[in-house]
Amino acid sequence: MRHLLSISELERADIERIVEQAARFAEVSDREIKKVPALRGRMVLNLFYEASTRTRSSFELAAKRLSADVVNFASGGSSVEKGESLKDTVLTLGAHKPDAIVIRTPWVGAAALVAGWTGAAIVNAGDGKHEHPTQALLDVYTLRQKLGALDGASIWIVGDVAHSRVARSNILAFSRMGANVTVAGPPTLIPREIGALGCEVRFSLDEIAQADVVYALRMQHERMSEAWVPSLREYAAAFQINRRRVSARQLVMHPGPVNRGVELSGEVVDSPRTLITAQVQAGVVVRMAVLYELLSGARTFSPVPEPQLA
Ligand code: NCD
Repeated sequence: MRHLLSISELERADIERIVEQAARFAEVSDREIKKVPALRGRMVLNLFYEASTRTRSSFELAAKRLSADVVNFASGGSSVEKGESLKDTVLTLGAHKPDAIVIRTPWVGAAALVAGWTGAAIVNAGDGKHEHPTQALLDVYTLRQKLGALDGASIWIVGDVAHSRVARSNILAFSRMGANVTVAGPPTLIPREIGALGCEVRFSLDEIAQADVVYALRMQHERMSEAWVPSLREYAAAFQINRRRVSARQLVMHPGPVNRGVELSGEVVDSPRTLITAQVQAGVVVRMAVLYELLSGARTFSPVPEPQLA
């Protein structure tokens, strides 16, 4: 694997290899000294053009646990505020010769674009509402820890599917791993073409009792230019995951950050049965596995040349 840009380019065997490597790294995280020398002398650049708590901190920790050097770049406070473009920023920081660039931007396709500008391995940490592949991998890892395998499991992804890169990556990853995926939400938040990714579509939670796993999505206000639901109160009345709607048998997940009292009730967020903390912990070991997969071998490629204008 040269880059990790989307789940769509991974086979089931690739996903299994990464989550199995993550399980081996989990053992390192339980040691008193949590570091291995696997990527000593390598450099990882974290390039974040969007807010992040979990993803950025876990990529940083993952790189450090593998003994790589890390440079963290956030667009706020950088020369982006003086108008420097994404390309010029990448070329500038590329002068430090990073072996991997972890990039999050609000722009669909930006990670793939950056792959053409540098020789570094690119990890897409979220490109607008397109994909967030490491989130999907850590969610597969978390579910395998709980269920053993995803084959035949019924997974319901509930809420703002339209604006969610997590939904897109997770539908693909869960299906590749043999789960039956259903998306549910109000029609305005379910894109018409979503079924093409291989999931069922529901516009109510009437049949949610059939789900083994309920995966709630955050309402993505920052990507909404108009009102997509009449009000958050009405959304919550119909689609909030709360004790009335899920039973003790069902696993509840959420990628974070949570709008408490909107997509999840506070009671469910705080319940020890909810997997949110396990997902965050999985984030470190799965990102270690991704960086290890991309950087542990020799890298001999050069950047993909940009198309020339005629
Ligand atoms: C997600 C993201 O940024 O796409 N968060 C995350 O990485 N854990 C989901 C979200 O912001 O709702």
